[in-house]
Amino acid sequence: MSKLVVFDHPLIQHKLSIMRDKATGPKEFRELLEEISMLMIYEVTRDLETEEVQIETPICTCTGRKLAGRKLAVVPILRAGLGMVDGVLNMIPAAKVGHIGLYRDPQTLEPVEYYCKLPADSETREILLVDPMLATGGSASAAIRFIKQRGCTHIRLIDLIAAPEGVARIQKDHPDVDIYVAGLDDHLNEHGYIVPGLGDAGDRLFGTK
Ligand code: PRP
Ligand code: URA
Repeated sequence: MSKLVVFDHPLIQHKLSIMRDKATGPKEFRELLEEISMLMIYEVTRDLETEEVQIETPICTCTGRKLAGRKLAVVPILRAGLGMVDGVLNMIPAAKVGHIGLYRDPQTLEPVEYYCKLPADSETREILLVDPMLATGGSASAAIRFIKQRGCTHIRLIDLIAAPEGVARIQKDHPDVDIYVAGLDDHLNEHGYIVPGLGDAGDRLFGTK
């Protein structure tokens, strides 16, 4: 079964609490999501492979380490996942970026795909799939399915907040995909919203409601 990692770092928890507050406006919401994404990616990438390299410093030659193994790609689930891309790229500027367009039908809660563009060599990369909300898990599960259909085998899912229902869905559908979250919430309400959650992440990011 895939691993679930919940980040309890004080900075992440502090920033997440401000994001949850309904009085927090889109500008601050966007800034905080970018900052949390940076902090999360630092931990998500803790087990990346490195290799020994020789370096000429201005003083002498020494041994250091650099990233080795698979290159990275960050793939946001549109729209709300866009709010996590810059935070990841601030830490991993060489990562390529793919996009998956999905929205959740408000009646059926089923994901509807409207766009998918991944880097040409994405099957050779470690894919960091980002979306602030993991609710029923339908969107993330479908996004992972599309990515796998394009030959990708190494995928990590990074969410700001997850409901237990969404975690269970991903662990059932994709037991090879580890899940990283800043908050594991209580449950989903009758409209499929995470409780306590933070409301509609896309609308809060882009000010559309
Ligand atoms: C939100 C969120 C996830 C999805 C989670 O997107 O960003 O993609 O809902 O719900 P699920 O786990 O039940 O599938 P939404 O469909 O609101 O689209 P948006 O990002 O364009 O606002
Ligand atoms: N999508 C959101 O943006 N928020 C939720 O609580 C659930 C799905």
